[in-house]
Amino acid sequence: MCGIIAAIGTEPVLASVLRGLQNLEYRGYDSAGVAVGLDDSLAVCKRAGQISALVDDVRAELPDGTRAIGHTRWSTHGPPTDANAHPHTDCTGRVAVVHNGIIENHEVLKADLRDHGHRFTSDTDTEVVAHLVEQCLEAGDETGVAVRQAIDRLAGSYAVAILVDGDDRVFAARNGSPLALGVGADTFYLGSDAPAFVEYTDEVVYLEDGDLVTLSPTSFEVSNDGQLVTRPAETIDWTPGDARKGAYDHFMLKEIHEQPSAIEQTIRGRLTDDGVRLEELEALDFGAVEAVHFVACGTSYHASLYCEQLLRERGVDAQTFLASEYSGSPPPVDERVLTVAVTQSGETADTLEAVRIARAEGATTLAVTNVVGSTVTRACDHHLLIRAGPEIGVAATKTFTSQITALVLLAERIVQDRGTDIQGYPLDELAALSDNAARTLESPQAEAVARRYADADSFFFIGRGPCYPVALEGALKLKEISYEHAEGFPAGELKHGPLALVTPQTPVIALFSGENDRNTLSNVREVQARGAPVIGVVPEGSDLVYEDFDDVLTVPDTAPELTAVLGNLQLQLFAYHVADALDRAIDKPRNLAKSVTVE
Ligand code: F6R
Repeated sequence: MCGIIAAIGTEPVLASVLRGLQNLEYRGYDSAGVAVGLDDSLAVCKRAGQISALVDDVRAELPDGTRAIGHTRWSTHGPPTDANAHPHTDCTGRVAVVHNGIIENHEVLKADLRDHGHRFTSDTDTEVVAHLVEQCLEAGDETGVAVRQAIDRLAGSYAVAILVDGDDRVFAARNGSPLALGVGADTFYLGSDAPAFVEYTDEVVYLEDGDLVTLSPTSFEVSNDGQLVTRPAETIDWTPGDARKGAYDHFMLKEIHEQPSAIEQTIRGRLTDDGVRLEELEALDFGAVEAVHFVACGTSYHASLYCEQLLRERGVDAQTFLASEYSGSPPPVDERVLTVAVTQSGETADTLEAVRIARAEGATTLAVTNVVGSTVTRACDHHLLIRAGPEIGVAATKTFTSQITALVLLAERIVQDRGTDIQGYPLDELAALSDNAARTLESPQAEAVARRYADADSFFFIGRGPCYPVALEGALKLKEISYEHAEGFPAGELKHGPLALVTPQTPVIALFSGENDRNTLSNVREVQARGAPVIGVVPEGSDLVYEDFDDVLTVPDTAPELTAVLGNLQLQLFAYHVADALDRAIDKPRNLAKSVTVE
């Protein structure tokens, strides 16, 4: 996730583009840049680091102009450096491009452009767009035609805004990444979302996939598939203060609802007809991996447990270690052990210490993280990005789902190279996960159920198989943000001790996956016999009888492994609405921090 902004009008626009970048900072903040169209050139200022630093430099270095584009980056291709910051330019410096999304065919395009003499100065996928436009201009195309021809060659997801020297327009296109157009009194704006320009106008046109937009200082037109189209304008009623969270009361709720697109970003370009392809890990010899050790904390530990299970089911020796316990009794390792550090922030001290030990003992190390350039990416031999975009709420939500998605891809990649005929993960259902997540999040059930149980003092979460790590995660989420006691258990373990705590005042949330459900139902009977109310998290179409439960949270019918992931979305909503009913500080719960940099 990155943020793009553009403005064009009859008055200077630089101040509004800088403001827009600050409004978009929540979408990415590792590097940023601006390009301004002047009478006879384009002026570009870009650098790694926070937007606040860029703003000072832009004010000092760039002349103002009546058309400009800007970008705030959350790296996916190449580390956060000055060279990788957007805007990206062509060989001549006549074309400047900002982009949000992933261009899947960038390698092929880059090779072709290089063969035609183009020189690249960044590691990004985006830079190909500037060179493609340059190539079309060189061939004599009119600017608008050159932009369209360039866009037509892109595969993947993109929202782009383009400036071309000598042309007084701004061009933009959208496919699979968000882009909104703001209509002001004497200026038009483009933004990854409307909050980018909410200070300047409340009139917004939401663009659709395939739209190509041409903005002049006084008008705009939208075409799709070569035909001019009309997109209706809507009036939004957000104040600038609300804008960053959009229509949501908290970042956590916003991030919960971002999961369908986060899943798409995690998978994009990696799930191919020939299996899983992880471009970043081409140097890793998967054939030499004999065992996999995960090291992680908190939510990342739960994602690791999930992946450990699916590797073991497929014949791979896999274990998960709590990173905070690892240094006390590290397991024996050598280069045939792949030690995988799972950490969304990439800065968790316990996890860093665990990989340091594993690496020193000779293990091959791999970081699975959300943050390019984070310490863990430097501490490990290899890294794989989960591409969830920045997460601002302290409680991890979309990063958990993207971790699971990335770890599934990793597990499949490991199994792929073994040539075993063990049945693989249901990858077709993984491809449908984003849509199923969107359907799950449409459900109003969790809010109603949460409000009914918000006064309870203790909650149990139970599940087996893939639902076990989700039960742990559901309990962690609830305790973090509601401050109520919550515990997760493997369903079969209740009778070995925790059952002693169950009373009519202990709501039990039971997760069902569609596999071994009868056993979990027996565990439900055990708590019901002690008077506990039971909330079933159940796949639609299940042969479980809904009347067996006091309340039900349903998820779309899919493969058991993915039913568990969807069940977790219901648990996130449940935790959120309990905490909201109790008026807790949801985005910044007491005593907790987003990155835990002490052991
Ligand atoms: C839970 C949560 C924490 C983190 C843990 C590890 O919502 O945020 O439990 O999961 O501190 O953090 P990372 O993944 O950054 O290593």
